[in-house]
Amino acid sequence: MKKYTVLISLLILTAALYGCSDKDSGSLSPESLFSKTCSECHKLKKVEDYSGDMTWSDVLVKMRTERKLEISDESAEIIIGYLNETFPPGE
Ligand code: HEC
Repeated sequence: MKKYTVLISLLILTAALYGCSDKDSGSLSPESLFSKTCSECHKLKKVEDYSGDMTWSDVLVKMRTERKLEISDESAEIIIGYLNETFPPGE
């Protein structure tokens, strides 16, 4: 009986820990996180070819507010970092 209690507590603890972790960034690399997140509604090319006035951080705000992109702040930061590095603004 005691064994079961321990086992069940462990299970609950694992579930709780897992529940708190950021599911959509998980252990993906910034690049996979970007391609997974940003190819849902349009081709990645749309992002890669973008040469407008918005910074990547503005683009993320726009996708989140106007286009209803659902993403955690943490994942958004990772993607912004990736984009700034890979497609530096103004180039
Ligand atoms: C929920 C759907 C959705 C997701 C997810 C999404 N976008 Fe968009 N995005 C749109 C729509 C709708 C447009 C405007 C229509 C079009 O140009 O195809 C757009 C347009 C764009 C544009 C062109 C500029 C503009 O506003 O017209 C860029 C750049 C862009 N998205 C970047 C991103 C990035 C980066 C991500 C990932 C973080 C992303 N999008 C994820 C819906 C989305």
